[in-house]
Parts: sequence; structure tokens; C-alpha cells
Amino acid sequence: MNSLKGALVLAATLLSITASLATLARQAPESKPASASSDDEHGQLLAKGKTIFVEKCAKCHNERGDKALSSGKPLSERGLSTETIARAVNGRLSKGTDEERRAVTFYIASLMKN
Ligand code: HEC
Repeated sequence: MNSLKGALVLAATLLSITASLATLARQAPESKPASASSDDEHGQLLAKGKTIFVEKCAKCHNERGDKALSSGKPLSERGLSTETIARAVNGRLSKGTDEERRAVTFYIASLMKN
């Protein structure tokens, strides 16, 4: 009889361990959204920046910033720092919102080859 009771206790223990592992497994993906949603935000910002850039800047810079400029190298080959890009964007998009400028700056930074 004692060994049956022991077996039941063991079974119950195993069950509860399995249950907590299952809970952990279910929670694991939920601990990720922080990075997943910032990736998402990243992608949305880039997409938004691209839309504005294509609309307002691409006639001189091409969609990928690879059009040669009157003063020399295309944007994508200028190796511009984010600060330099932000300054130029602030001038060009002075009527836009902060978020629009941030998005375009981000997009241009993503075009830099060096
Ligand atoms: C009418 C043509 C034209 C349009 C439209 C235009 N640009 Fe430019 N952009 C230029 C030229 C030409 C240069 C190079 C000027 C220089 O070297 O000083 C330049 C340079 C830049 C630079 C680099 C500045 C540097 O320090 O090398 C950035 C960043 C830039 N433009 C962003 C933009 C953005 C953002 C837009 C749209 C909101 C835009 N441009 C629209 C012609 C244009």
C-alpha cells in the first residue's frame, strides 16, 4: 500500500512539474514582445521614412539615395553620421513633424554604405 501511495505522490509531483514547465514554455514567447515590438517600431519608422523620402527627396536622391549630386557623391556614399543627416533633414523638412524627421533621418542612415 505504501508503495502505491509513493507512486501516486511521485505521479502528482511529476504532473505538477510538467504543468509548470508547460506554463514556462507558454510564457517564454511572451517575454519577447519588448524586442519584437521595438523591431516592429523600427520597421514602421523605416517604412514611414522611406515613403516621405520617395515622395519629397527621391527626385534628386533616388529612392535609395544613390543618385550623384551636383556637388559630388550620392547620399549613400557620403558616409554621413546620423547627426549630419539629422541636421540636413531638419532643414529640408522644417515643416514636418518631429516623428517625420526622425523617420527620414533613420531611413537615410540605413542607406549609408560606409
Ligand atoms: C532639388 C533637389 C533636392 C531635393 C528635392 C532634395 N535634396 Fe538633398 N541634396 C541635394 C543636393 C544637390 C545635395 C548636395 C548638397 C551638398 O553637398 O551640400 C543634397 C544633400 C543632401 C544631404 C547630405 C548633406 C551633406 O552634408 O552631405 C542630405 C542628408 C539630404 N540632401 C537630404 C534630403 C532630404 C531628406 C530631402 C527630402 C526631404 C532632400 N534632401 C531633398 C538636392 C536635393
